[in-house]
Amino acid sequence: MISLHNIHKSYYMGDVTVPVLNGIDLSIDNGEFVAIMGPSGSGKTTLLNIIGCLDSIDVGEYSLAGEKINTLDDKSMARIRSQHIGFVFQLFNLIPRISARRNIELPMIYANVNKADRYSRTTTVLERVGLSDRATHVPTQLSGGQQQRVAIARALVNNPDLLVVDEPTGSLDSKNGKEIMQLFGRLNADGVTIVMVTHENDIAACAQRQVHLLDGKIDQDTA
Ligand SMILES: Nc1ncnc2c1ncn2[C@@H]1O[C@H](COP(=O)(O)OP(=O)(O)O)[C@@H](O)[C@H]1O
Ligand SMILES: [Mg+2]
Repeated sequence: MISLHNIHKSYYMGDVTVPVLNGIDLSIDNGEFVAIMGPSGSGKTTLLNIIGCLDSIDVGEYSLAGEKINTLDDKSMARIRSQHIGFVFQLFNLIPRISARRNIELPMIYANVNKADRYSRTTTVLERVGLSDRATHVPTQLSGGQQQRVAIARALVNNPDLLVVDEPTGSLDSKNGKEIMQLFGRLNADGVTIVMVTHENDIAACAQRQVHLLDGKIDQDTA
């Protein structure tokens, strides 16, 4: 499903070039659950943003679900994101003053899903993450773990092939973190491919495969 070949990426700040990824080769199959690990600053988030079609590459080839991503313009990248990818971030990124249900509906509004389908699909994903009884709560009325489950429901609502997840337990205590990892395990068992960045060994151990970055290269790839 994911094929990255010889990926290079630098950031440019004034006349200073910061090389971040220095030749990444990585293939991920449908149905895999992969943890991307490595020290702070090793390029994990940059690689994840490239996989999630949120950022472009300087050199190399990337294809996702049979589409050549490296040659696409911004509009096509947005279409790929909306059709294929769900996103989960460390800080949940929910809209504060609207209910869980309305937060979950947002990606479907962008994908032009009609109102009745939006309602029924939201109901289904709320069940899937175990939050049917919290649909009308706004984020501040929910615990951190519950907010992250709303964010996961929102990521699932367009039936993505791929979940792209950055430090999902970084803002949670260990009990809530464990519950979130169990939820990802169930989703992966249902067939969702997951690529997750984490710097924590016990969180990475929940995935089937661990890819370690060091200085912008893959240092280890173990299953
Ligand atoms: N938008 C940006 N502009 C400039 N430098 C950046 C930007 N994003 C990340 N970097 C730099 O790229 C390197 C890798 O960052 P990142 O991918 O976030 O690493 P990680 O997630 O492994 O901590 C860091 O040195 C960081 O300072
Ligand atoms: Mg990061």
